[in-house]
Amino acid sequence: MTSRLSNLPTTLRWLGDRLGYLALLDQTLLPTECREIECRDLESVWRAIRELRVRGAPAIGIAAGYGLTLGLGRLDDESEFFTRLQQARDRLAACRPTAVNLHWALDRVVAVAQRLRGQASIPVIHQAIWDEARRIHEQDRAICRAIGVAGADLLEDGSTVLTHCNAGALATSEHGTALGVIYSAAASGKRIQVFVDETRPLLQGARLSAWELSRAGVPVTLICDSMAAQVMREKRVQAVIVGADRIAANGDTANKIGTYSVACLARMHAIPFYVAAPSSTFDLTLSQGDQIPIETRDGGEISEGFGRRTAPDGIGIYNPAFDVTPAELITALITEFGVIRPVNAGTIRATVGPKTH
Ligand code: MRU
Repeated sequence: MTSRLSNLPTTLRWLGDRLGYLALLDQTLLPTECREIECRDLESVWRAIRELRVRGAPAIGIAAGYGLTLGLGRLDDESEFFTRLQQARDRLAACRPTAVNLHWALDRVVAVAQRLRGQASIPVIHQAIWDEARRIHEQDRAICRAIGVAGADLLEDGSTVLTHCNAGALATSEHGTALGVIYSAAASGKRIQVFVDETRPLLQGARLSAWELSRAGVPVTLICDSMAAQVMREKRVQAVIVGADRIAANGDTANKIGTYSVACLARMHAIPFYVAAPSSTFDLTLSQGDQIPIETRDGGEISEGFGRRTAPDGIGIYNPAFDVTPAELITALITEFGVIRPVNAGTIRATVGPKTH
């Protein structure tokens, strides 16, 4: 099958000038409905991120960057502008704690405003922060494409790749990270097939990855998370590629809950396990993965995730949204600066150290 990369969805777009608004593809409705929501104030962006209408580490960073500009453009008092900017930053930063891209993007936009404080008018500062939000958005496109190119050589023609959650176009500005590697390999003429883990509890694999891969013309087969071991044992998979929400200095990687199990299974079956992520996902202030904050979410996502109750009342429910895969289980990290292999503090610092945080 030929790839149809022009069919990749537009996850977010800004409409109008600096006083315009953010349109987000509402990912909670996929795959049955393809509808955008309009975010015209900070609260609507906060809700969209919190409720996973926009999700995936790079995409929430981009959305948050734009979110900072909403509601500030018509202010004329500098002190009020900076107070409201800081409040907006803190509110958005607390929204989802694990993906470091969110904090990275917010800090980038706020730093631009701080540099101009006392030297430029409010409209000029507002224009500058909106420009920075757009730059983050634009750079993400180029970064994802570079990740795709860097990783495509790792996939053999005719191979089948397993992925978990969604690290594709829907999680970024365009091409995706983990799925970007697959799209690049497919665009170069390789015949790649993909097994997608359903990704309980919120089904990002089934609802999102399967949807965007099939739209792009990549043959995709859906499995329940619990089937990955059997699929590997049957030798149906030659590589695993996932994205990341935060990578510590030693390479320990937080990603969607269930990723760690897949990495253990891959090691058990001698299958390479790759993590694709931009440099903005690295947090070199944390020496190892147990320092990464893990978001826990409402138990209802597990007990009533399919529109009806699937567990009895009155029981305990634990719902961590992410887990940490130890660096030793990761064959290579794929970044916009190239492939990092072996994965350790030295190789990471040499590749992304000077360019991040
Ligand atoms: O809870 P989500 O859907 O935001 O989780 C997303 C993931 O875990 C992705 O794999 C990660 O953010 C990388 S996206 C390029």
